[in-house]
Amino acid sequence: MKVNNKSYRAIWIENFAVCMIDQNLLPFEFKIHHCYSVDETCDAIKTMITRGAGSIGAAGGYAMLQAIWENENAENLYNELKTAKQKIDATRPTAVNLFYATNRVLEAAKISTAFAIAEAHAIADECVEQSKKMGIYGSELIKDGYKIETHCNAGWLALVDYGSALSPIYTAFENGKKNIFVYVDETRPRLQGMRLTAWELQQQGISHAIIPDNAGAFYMSKNEIDIMIVGADRIAANGDTANKIGTLEKAIAAKYYGIPFYIAAPSSTFDLDTQTRNEIIIEERNEEEVLHCYGKNKEGKLENIFISNPGSKAKNPAFDVTPAELITGFITEKGIIKPNNEEIKKLFEK
Ligand code: MRU
Repeated sequence: MKVNNKSYRAIWIENFAVCMIDQNLLPFEFKIHHCYSVDETCDAIKTMITRGAGSIGAAGGYAMLQAIWENENAENLYNELKTAKQKIDATRPTAVNLFYATNRVLEAAKISTAFAIAEAHAIADECVEQSKKMGIYGSELIKDGYKIETHCNAGWLALVDYGSALSPIYTAFENGKKNIFVYVDETRPRLQGMRLTAWELQQQGISHAIIPDNAGAFYMSKNEIDIMIVGADRIAANGDTANKIGTLEKAIAAKYYGIPFYIAAPSSTFDLDTQTRNEIIIEERNEEEVLHCYGKNKEGKLENIFISNPGSKAKNPAFDVTPAELITGFITEKGIIKPNNEEIKKLFEK
């Protein structure tokens, strides 16, 4: 996507470095972060300089590529890559795209180093192609004049390019549906909606408003939402879907008010080894993220401030899981499917 008329991906390789748009600084600063080693890329995933399932997957693939570069002269490259994979996989536990990516590169290394390198690049490129296709299929669900709610950031920052939940919105807009409006959940505590989705939509000239996380049901009850589209971090074989904390509440409210609730995700986010929601590991992040807030002060300086009752503890689950029965359908790169074992299985047969 374009920023100041220049095309960018959220993450890419340049001069043997993994380069990524620093998502912790947006929307205040647009800065490229460079990772020169496996450790630096792991750190960037952990601290969410890059984030969102697709971009995390691309980062994981590129970190494996760095492991190949770092172990050029190793006696047993495969063993070194196995160790690197463990380190990379430990950065974030929920988004399956990470394990999907490290696994693909490791498996490819059994055949040849050249194949493993090609796989690392292919993971990011495929994510872009799949995102584009989700846009085409998903845009059919959006009529001109629609009001769409989304949660977190499932845009191009989260999927290398285009996005999952936002890609259908971009495609609909490009195809002339100019009167769409997006309700952007702020997405406490990291504010991916308020900081990143709002920034993306503004870059594309799409009308939107940020709403507090607890306002979704209110707007649904007022017939203000025609459709809700969100992304996913892991989809179990039965359709249960892990996504940013707060998604579950929106799905429950959407069901109550009869609002279509779609998940947009590439097939790399479906995990057939995970049968149901009970098997999905939910990342618990530092309580600091809840107790503090990061933003610009009156003088325009970036500041981290404490916003809570001193001495109180906080809990910070990063994701929740929406049961399949609350989901209207999945927007995938192969079309729109129903949330059940049979349709999900077919996704991998086509
Ligand atoms: O913790 P994050 O910001 O990485 O979580 C991101 C989300 O939950 C997105 O909705 C999800 O990755 C889907 S977009 C690829």
